[in-house]
Amino acid sequence: MKKERLDKIVASSMGVSRSEAGKLVRSGAVTLAGAALRNPSLRLDAQAAALACGARELNAKQHVTLMLHKPAGVLSASRDARAKTVVDLLPPEYARRGLFPAGRLDKDATGLLLLTDDGELAHRVISPKKHVWKTYEVLLAAAPDAAQLDAVQNSITLADGQRCLPAVAVRTPKPNVVLVRIREGKYHQIKRMFAAAGNAVAGLKRTAVGGLALDEGLAPGEYRELGETDIARIFEQPAPLTPESFA
Ligand code: URA
Repeated sequence: MKKERLDKIVASSMGVSRSEAGKLVRSGAVTLAGAALRNPSLRLDAQAAALACGARELNAKQHVTLMLHKPAGVLSASRDARAKTVVDLLPPEYARRGLFPAGRLDKDATGLLLLTDDGELAHRVISPKKHVWKTYEVLLAAAPDAAQLDAVQNSITLADGQRCLPAVAVRTPKPNVVLVRIREGKYHQIKRMFAAAGNAVAGLKRTAVGGLALDEGLAPGEYRELGETDIARIFEQPAPLTPESFA
């Protein structure tokens, strides 16, 4: 079992800074099986069951995953020297946990972005081998013809020669808006798929990751923590796409 410094375990499970965690440890508030541990650099199993801070049990194993309604104009990154990032939209306790985006949305794109401190979960969401479908509402420069939609669905080859996996594309009641579902995440993939088909993307919103849909109640910039049921939904098959799937 991987050992970690006590102040790091306390910081990540309490959502406090490393120095605040160190103070808590030195004060004697952090206990293992009831006995105070006063050394912040002590290394121990992060999942030690009987670790507590005051009355609160610490379970460093617990990860945090958020659903963010990404607004346009912010970068899908943890930090950037110049531009505002999605992590800058969150209160400091989340930034301190080291949350990072599980998959990217372009700066101008909006919609469902998952942020997590769980590397294994992020891998399962992003890896094309895991086949988690991502669903997008795509505003096109021109109403697509049937040949363009067929091309996008049938392993289209991008300008750089990369071949896409088969995708799903359905029309909506709005002639310039289509719903697209892909199960990989190549750089600017949807934009490049439509460019290869002879159209252009004018707006992009991700509405679902796997079977987990963006909460309609979340305005751009708002987020909520996901529970176990939400996380399980990510790995469920999404409902088939129909023109009625467009809200
Ligand atoms: N495809 C794109 O072109 N951009 C995104 O942000 C996501 C998918």
